[in-house]
Amino acid sequence: MTIILRVDPTNPDEEALSRAAEVIRGGGLVAFPTETVYGLGANVFDRRALMRVYEVKQRPVDNPLIIHVDSLEMLGEVARDIPEEAFKLASRFWPGPLTLILLKSERVPYEATGGLETVAVRMPAHPVALKLISRAGVPIAAPSANLSGRPSPTRGEHVVRDLYSKVDVIIDAGETLYGVESTIVNILVKPPVLLRPGAYPVEEVERVLGVRIHVPEFARGLSEAESAMAPGTRYRHYAPNTPLILVEAGSYEGEALKRLSMEVARLIGEFKGRRVCVLSSRETSSAYTGLGVEVFVLGSRDNLFEVARSLFNALRWVDDAGCEVAIAEGYPERGLGLTIMNRLRKAASRRIFI
Ligand code: TXA
Ligand code: MG
Repeated sequence: MTIILRVDPTNPDEEALSRAAEVIRGGGLVAFPTETVYGLGANVFDRRALMRVYEVKQRPVDNPLIIHVDSLEMLGEVARDIPEEAFKLASRFWPGPLTLILLKSERVPYEATGGLETVAVRMPAHPVALKLISRAGVPIAAPSANLSGRPSPTRGEHVVRDLYSKVDVIIDAGETLYGVESTIVNILVKPPVLLRPGAYPVEEVERVLGVRIHVPEFARGLSEAESAMAPGTRYRHYAPNTPLILVEAGSYEGEALKRLSMEVARLIGEFKGRRVCVLSSRETSSAYTGLGVEVFVLGSRDNLFEVARSLFNALRWVDDAGCEVAIAEGYPERGLGLTIMNRLRKAASRRIFI
C-alpha cells in the first residue's frame, strides 16, 4: 500500500515528515520532492532497501544512486579523504543542485554505488528534502522517482503515475523548482569532469573552482560512455514512447533561427495526416500556427531556466496528448542550454542537423 502525503513545499506539516522519516528508518521507500526533480529515497545504510529501489524502478543494478545529506557532518559519514575543492564548491552551491563524486566511506554499501569505490553526494535545497533527511537521521540514497528510462518526475502526480502501489510513501509537494536533475562533477580527477549537465550551469562551477571542467561527448548527450567513470550514461533516458525528432542548428540567432523553424514546418508537412506535436520556444511558436499541429511552448530562448523547467513535463505530455510524432527544436549548448540538449538528445529517436 502506498500512502500519499500532500504537504506545503515551504512549510511542510511536521507530523507528515516524521511519519515519512520513520518509514525511511524502518527500511521503507519514500518518494520525496527536491528542488530539481522528485527522488525515490531509501536509508543508504540499508542494503535491502537499496535493492528495492532498483527493483521498483526497474533500474540496472550497475547504475549508482545519488546520496542526499543535510550537513557537512553527514557528508563525513558517506565520503572519505574529501578534497579541498569539495568544501569550496559546497560552501558556494550547497544546499543546491550540485552533485560531487567523492571516495566512498566504508559504511556505504556497494548497492548504493553500483559496485564503485566512489559515491555521488549532494545536499538538496528543498525544505521537504532537507527536513526529511534530518528527521530520518541517516543519509538518503535517491535516484529520480521515475520508472527507469522515463522522464524524471517534476510533479507529485508524475510519481504517483510511475510508482503508486510500489513504494511505501509518496510526499507530494507540487511542482519542483528547477525541473531538471542536479549537475554532476567528478572532482577526483584533473581536470575535473562534467558527468551530467544539470540545474547549475557548468560555467558557474568553473568560476568557483577557477579551472576549466572537461565536458566529454556523453555529457553533451552525444555518445554513449562505456567507462565506469560515467555509469548510467549509457542507458537510454527520458524517452517518450512517441518517436521524437530533434532539429539542431549551428546557430540559433536571427536568420538561423528562422531556418530552424522553417525546417520544423517542412517536417510537419512530411507527416501530413498524422498527429504531430511540436516542442517549441516562445520566439518560434507562431511559425507553427495554422499547420494543424499541437504546440507545447517550453519557454523563451532568453530564459532557458523556463525551458529546462518545463522540459520533462513536455516529454510526458507528448505521450499523454496522443501525439504520433513529436518534433523538438534545439538550443545553443551554453549555460542551461547544455543541460537541455543533453536531455533532448537522450530522448530523441532521430536527430537532424541543418
Ligand atoms: O537532481 C538529482 O540529482 C536527482 C534528485 C532526486 O536528487 N537525482 C537523480 O538521480 O537524478 P539519478 O539516479 O536519476 O541519477 C544519478 C546518476 C547516475 O545515473 C550516475 O550517472 C551518477 O548519478 N552517479 C551516481 N553515482 C556515481 C558515481 N559513483 N560515479 C559516477 N557517477 C555516478
Ligand atoms: Mg534518473
